[in-house]
Amino acid sequence: MPTVSLVSSKKDPAEDPIQCTIDKGQTIYDGFIQHGHELPHGCLAGSCGSCKVEIISGMENLKPPGVIESDTIKSILGTCKKRPLNPIRLACRAKVLGDVTLQVFECP
Ligand code: FES
Repeated sequence: MPTVSLVSSKKDPAEDPIQCTIDKGQTIYDGFIQHGHELPHGCLAGSCGSCKVEIISGMENLKPPGVIESDTIKSILGTCKKRPLNPIRLACRAKVLGDVTLQVFECP
């Protein structure tokens, strides 16, 4: 089963990542909530963008985004003043196929 690691966006190197073993095909959000870790969220349907995460590694281990997720990500990138260093995905939509490392993307 894939392992998804959530690293802190506060850049504290002493802080260990939260790691969850997630069923293949499960969304990042569902996998974390199953292990008692709640990620920021809103609609859980791919349209509000509240669950945006930056994929630090393992982008190839996520199922490609659908139309709704792609449109929401385009909207986020079009309005956010901060540029992400890595690709953005939505935790409520991104389905895990292999190991992934991510952090919550905060858009000021
Ligand atoms: S919770 Fe709204 S897009 Fe994921």
